[in-house]
Amino acid sequence: MNRILVTGSTGALGRPVADLLQSLGAEVRGLSRRAGQASHQGDLVTGAGLDAALDGVGTIVHCASDTRAQGKTDVQSTRHLLDAAARAGHPHVIFVSIVGVDRIPFPYYRVKFEVEGLIEAYGGTTLRATQFHDFVLGGARLAARLPFVPAPDVPVQPISTHDVAARIAELADAPPAAGRVADLGGPEVLHTPDLFRSYLQTIGSRRRVVPVRLPGAAFRAFRQGHHLAPGNPSSGERWSGFLESLSGTPTER
Ligand SMILES: NC(=O)c1ccc[n+]([C@@H]2O[C@H](COP(=O)([O-])OP(=O)(O)OC[C@H]3O[C@@H](n4cnc5c(N)ncnc54)[C@H](OP(=O)(O)O)[C@@H]3O)[C@@H](O)[C@H]2O)c1
Repeated sequence: MNRILVTGSTGALGRPVADLLQSLGAEVRGLSRRAGQASHQGDLVTGAGLDAALDGVGTIVHCASDTRAQGKTDVQSTRHLLDAAARAGHPHVIFVSIVGVDRIPFPYYRVKFEVEGLIEAYGGTTLRATQFHDFVLGGARLAARLPFVPAPDVPVQPISTHDVAARIAELADAPPAAGRVADLGGPEVLHTPDLFRSYLQTIGSRRRVVPVRLPGAAFRAFRQGHHLAPGNPSSGERWSGFLESLSGTPTER
């Protein structure tokens, strides 16, 4: 493997991606806005630090996203990244998107879809994945603070970030797809209220889960399963295994 830059290397997905690629023998660089958090400091919104981070790089795994602000700066950031990549000799760019971004009318998903277009025009590779275990856990933890635990009445196909990382490592070893590769989903499709119940059981909570039918076109699309990839499940970690791995950690006791 060659020299690889992972944007978003401090994030939920970027960390396991960087660790795996390094363990496979790549020379891995990370990018963070914060000093000392990655091998390279830079800001995709301004473009600062990108030329230095991209020097001699053969592959970029683009995991950075303004996830807290619904991807507000993601289009601009990706333009800066691709411009810098073109200056650096056109390395392979692998972008991580979300299953259903073209079919679910969520503001963040519209941004992801627009970024997919930029990646395709550049000649890079887009991998869409279903929701990460960590992301679903965040929702469950938030809901579990309430006396009655609301759970969206939608299916979900959670996947381990380590399994997404494994697929990215394969893509990093392959030629650019110049577009999308097959969507990647978790090993099973679960009902979100059941999944929240299993989380509550793991933390020893007796709170009751209340399935909630959320209104609007986006949640109708979720109910219809446009965010799922049942035809291409990973054979990796299940939600139950993920919960078991949590039960030993101090925050879950
Ligand atoms: N969460 C899910 O269930 C899911 C499912 C499928 C696909 N995805 C996609 O997977 C990707 C990674 O998601 P994640 O959950 O790992 O995100 P995350 O944990 O929120 O991490 C976001 C990363 O982006 C970096 N970043 C943000 N703005 C930046 C900027 N202006 N310049 C440089 N770096 C910047 C952050 O680095 P610093 O803060 O250190 O600068 C951080 O490392 C996203 O594109 C997301 O849409 C997520």
